[in-house]
This record gives sequence, structure tokens and C-alpha cells, in this order.
Amino acid sequence: MKEVKFNEYAKDVVEQIGKGAFLNTKYHDKKNTMTIGWGNMGIIWGKPVFTVAVRYSRHTYELIDKAGEFSISVPLSGNLKKELGFCGSKSGRDFDKFKECGFTEVKGQKTNTPLIGECDIHYECKVVYKQAMEPALIDKSIDDKFYTNNDFHVLYYGEIVGCYETSK
Ligand SMILES: Cc1cc2nc3c(=O)[nH]c(=O)nc-3n(C[C@H](O)[C@H](O)[C@H](O)COP(=O)(O)O)c2cc1C
Repeated sequence: MKEVKFNEYAKDVVEQIGKGAFLNTKYHDKKNTMTIGWGNMGIIWGKPVFTVAVRYSRHTYELIDKAGEFSISVPLSGNLKKELGFCGSKSGRDFDKFKECGFTEVKGQKTNTPLIGECDIHYECKVVYKQAMEPALIDKSIDDKFYTNNDFHVLYYGEIVGCYETSK
């Protein structure tokens, strides 16, 4: 892994997030990854921050909330489509997704959360703020589209403490 500036691949990463990236979590000896399609990268409180949105129903929610950190591994060039599908439909409660997908677990450099060696770009993040969505404040069109079952997202703001590209 080669360290790069957090925004070096911002354009590619923001484009790919809409198609899918991996949100990795680890708490004690339990690790997991799930597909995300939403995320924000930018500056807040004078820090580079990656914000992810995790619904309460996810196994990932239990791990990220306890661990207070996470990592993101982004596949570029349309890679790992099958794995994005698997990790976006199966739960870590039922599967070891790293094992099922044959992922290489790369040790984090600044956190305890692993990265996925088969991906191209990676972020290590420490949660500096979390925000439960306030149902009364959501625009009605979004509420009707995404939250009819009340399975709201919690937003996790992760300070980016490391950003890497996989050495080829
Ligand atoms: C393309 C795609 C994007 C997704 N984005 C999110 C997301 O941003 N937040 C979320 O909570 N779930 C998202 N999901 C759903 C989770 O990936 C899925 O429910 C997963 O099985 C949860 O795994 P877990 O129980 O191991 O955490 C997405 C699924 C797909 C296929």
C-alpha cells in the first residue's frame, strides 16, 4: 500500500461510490464488510472526513458503533462487481464475507480495521461524530422513498487518518 493524499482520487472514488464500495469494520475479533452506495468526502472541523450512512438493521451498525472506526476500500474500473453484489445482500451475521469472497485482509496502518487487498483505493477513518437521523427533519419525498419501514440511517463522520492506493 502506498500512502496518497486523501483527495488524490476523489473524482474516481465519488463516481465509484454510486456504483458500490466496501465499508469494512472490526470490533475485537469480529470483522465484516458491506457494500455502500452512499458516502461523502470533504472537509469539516478543519479535517478531511468521510461520512457513511448505515441503517440500524445492518450487522455493520453493531460493529462500527462499538469500534468507533472503519475503513473504506474502493474497487475502480468496474472490478469486483460480483463481490459488491454479495456483500450488499448477505449479512456478516450469516457469512464470513472476507472468506466467501476470497478477499486478502490487509492490516490497517493507523486503525485496527482491515482493508481489502483486491481494491484500488483505501481510507482509514476514526469516528469523530455520529448523528442519528431525526425523522421529523427529513424531506417528505426522501422519507417516503427510503424510510417507510423506519429503518433509518445513522451517519458516521470518520476523520480520514490514512489514504492509500494498492501498489501494483
Ligand atoms: C449498491 C448497494 C449499496 C448499498 N449502500 C448501503 C448504504 O450506503 N448503507 C446501508 O446501510 N446499506 C447499504 N446497502 C445494503 C447493505 O450492503 C446490505 O444490507 C448488507 O447485506 C449489510 O451487511 P451486514 O449485515 O453484514 O452489515 C447497499 C447495498 C447495495 C447492493
